[in-house]
Amino acid sequence: MNTAKMDEIIEEVETGVSISHRAKAMQASPIRKLASIAEARKKKGIKVYHLNIGQPDLHTPDAVFEAIRGLDLPTIAYAPSNGLPQALTAWKNYFAHHSIQLDEKEIIITTGGSEAIIFALCAVCDTDDEVIVFEPFYTNYNGFASIANVRLRPVKLSISNGFHLPSLEEIERHVTSKTKAILICNPNNPTGTVYSREEVQRLVTLCQRHNLFLLSDEVYREFAYNTRATSVMDFPEIRDRSILLDSCSKRFNVCGARIGAIASHNEEVMQATFKFGMARLSVASIEQLALVPLLNSPEQYTQPIVEEFHRRRDAVCEGLKKIPGVTSYIPEGAFYIVIGLPVRDADHFSRWLIEEFEDKKETVLLAPANGFYATPNSGTNEVRLAFMLNVPDLQRSLEILRRALETYKN
Ligand SMILES: Cc1ncc(COP(=O)(O)O)c(C=O)c1O
Repeated sequence: MNTAKMDEIIEEVETGVSISHRAKAMQASPIRKLASIAEARKKKGIKVYHLNIGQPDLHTPDAVFEAIRGLDLPTIAYAPSNGLPQALTAWKNYFAHHSIQLDEKEIIITTGGSEAIIFALCAVCDTDDEVIVFEPFYTNYNGFASIANVRLRPVKLSISNGFHLPSLEEIERHVTSKTKAILICNPNNPTGTVYSREEVQRLVTLCQRHNLFLLSDEVYREFAYNTRATSVMDFPEIRDRSILLDSCSKRFNVCGARIGAIASHNEEVMQATFKFGMARLSVASIEQLALVPLLNSPEQYTQPIVEEFHRRRDAVCEGLKKIPGVTSYIPEGAFYIVIGLPVRDADHFSRWLIEEFEDKKETVLLAPANGFYATPNSGTNEVRLAFMLNVPDLQRSLEILRRALETYKN
């Protein structure tokens, strides 16, 4: 939750029936806010290249559909609240494949990574407790914090070092008596940064020093190019403090299946999470079963997907070099990058680009990065690019961006 916005709303004098303050303070998605303009533009015959959204364009592996066709169930019944036994075993095998050793009882299957994050916040925080995040951050963290009634306390990162973490002392300045946890996303959305083991170690030290939980969103685990993403589970010294948040969505191209997981060695955390799980009864059983073959032998399915995104990452980095005035870096993972544009107001530029600009009847849709910051007036000249197009389309999109920047009057 953006604290400034929340306080502003609380001060409003209201009369009559009213929705909640937190509902009013909920931010609309910055990723989708220009989408309706893009649709209108398409109706006018302009081709729009979407660099704004992280919806994978690749096919879901056939194994998923085969598993669904092979199901022979008399009834689609509620699954156990923690997950179907064979699906839990598959998750355990998946984690073991990544050298993360967990028992089935230390895993709960969730409706996407989204529910895992909400459950984790609810399990460790009381109302108005604070959670440290690093901005720019995945914008839905705002919504999750709002649902869980907790406050996000952002630590600002800088494009100048590729959005890597600041010193332990700098992060420590943000710890207050209300702080309950640190929430990281590694590999990162929206920056594509992969934190080194030493960086995560800083957070581990802070969690030990200040009695905090470390919540780690690892939904992009495999998307770490030429490196292995450090997991929160790599640190036995914080066994009781670490909570792993995960999802099948991106790595298997199954965003609509809505299957994720939360895992922790902390029994109390898992018991609490189980109670939240019981309150929503269960996760879709067909999708849990459909993903079992993929979780049992993940590499064969993730490898081609990761290789394709690696090629795209390289193409984007090459293309960006050809655009004068752009500030960028090499994102070590995920399929996003936040870049600085040579404009005063990236929001205005992005709107102009989709509303007015065209090059040979084509234009580009970007996500202005200010929506990924909680601190007002941050990231005002930055945009996030998502690599959801094939390499030739990415190259063409960046050419359009270059031409647009040449034409745009700041
Ligand atoms: C960083 C991050 N975490 C969590 C999620 C949630 O994913 P899902 O609920 O589809 O598993 C996303 C989706 O884009 C994400 O980018």
